[in-house]
Amino acid sequence: MNQHVAPAKKLTGTLHLPPDKSIAQRAALFSMLSEERSVIANYPAAEDPQTALRCIALLGATVSKKEFEVTVDGVGRDALRPDPGTVDCGNSGTVMRLLSGIIAGAGITATLTGDASLAGRPMKRIVDPLVRMGAAMDTAHGGYPPLRISRKDPLRPILFELPVASAQLKSCVLLAGLFGDTPTRVVESVPSRNHTETMLRLPVSPENGKNVIESSRDLAIPPQNLRIPGDFSAAAFWMVAASILEGSDLLLPATGINPTRCAALHILERMGADIETSNERLEGDEPVADIRVRAANLKGVDIHPEEIPNAIDELPVLSVAMAFAEGRSRITGASELRYKESDRLREMQNMLERAGVKIIGYDDGLAIDGNPGQFAKAAVHDSRHDHRMAMSAAILSLRGDGVSEIRNAEAAAVSYPDFWSDLDSVAHV
Ligand code: S3P
Repeated sequence: MNQHVAPAKKLTGTLHLPPDKSIAQRAALFSMLSEERSVIANYPAAEDPQTALRCIALLGATVSKKEFEVTVDGVGRDALRPDPGTVDCGNSGTVMRLLSGIIAGAGITATLTGDASLAGRPMKRIVDPLVRMGAAMDTAHGGYPPLRISRKDPLRPILFELPVASAQLKSCVLLAGLFGDTPTRVVESVPSRNHTETMLRLPVSPENGKNVIESSRDLAIPPQNLRIPGDFSAAAFWMVAASILEGSDLLLPATGINPTRCAALHILERMGADIETSNERLEGDEPVADIRVRAANLKGVDIHPEEIPNAIDELPVLSVAMAFAEGRSRITGASELRYKESDRLREMQNMLERAGVKIIGYDDGLAIDGNPGQFAKAAVHDSRHDHRMAMSAAILSLRGDGVSEIRNAEAAAVSYPDFWSDLDSVAHV
């Protein structure tokens, strides 16, 4: 599907965000591992979370859906279907990496596949620790899906120092560790999103400035009875859009503001954005707030390497904000962006260059010379089937000098199926 985006004068109104994809996918996987019934409210209709439900059903969980409420009767750790065959993880790196930990830990045999984008994402990072833990893993040409997983030796708990700040890798190893008689310990020096630790109530202790997280068979797996908060990563598109369009005023109720997720909020505040959070509360164990964003004059910002993991999914749209900020902005230490649903550093650079923005690309980041007075040149963008690139190009095009076209715009549905209708509902053209 190709989508045309006309320049907007301003954005006003209230948007109810899609529920958080990271939390929802975990809620599905963990409810399968629990022996009790879980009732998950506000479960997303987006493609990745629906993939997670299909996968847990294939592994033996009983899933029933009533509007946005999902009930899962879990199978527990030891009664997963032993031979699920081929498990299609769609576009979801989270499902593939977390499920690999579960399958390797449980000692069942499965082949994990995905779409063309997932087939290009590196899996060696999870293969190495899982093989150390006793799994046998076959991959395509040196570490890419499909992944065939089975158990070679009895599960060996490990001490694992994360070589890269990745919540997917951290979660994968901790989930395999849940099947061990003694604790697996994962050491992280740069914190990434902590939903797995929080939702499974895993012990986390600080040691020499690092977090040590433990999992083992001794820990009971709690049922997942929660209401999924609004997705901060979805909110970020609107926070940038409202900031760069004069006269805008948007309200985003019940947005997740877990500190390991919302560095983009603080980065935008450093840029001078006008963001108000109110009514802070907890949904289950996750903090949420109502967020109001109004247009502001932005200035350039440096995003430091240690902030990257907590803003990783928001960097594409933050680069759009940088294009309209006074002065130079820099992103460094962000080479992980090259391994997402697309090579996002390359795609961000291409997108901004097409729009006439001055940008320099580096191996691990970008430098952008912003100009508050400029309008993005109308252009033909292609999401390359990456949901966040489709939506970032749309936000960029709202500050365009003419109508832009976004090719493969349907990719937005991976995390935000109502993105295009939400855009229509708040944009004044
Ligand atoms: C995710 C973690 C991040 C993020 C992805 C979702 C998760 O990936 O980019 O969209 O749900 O754990 P990495 O952990 O690989 O950085």
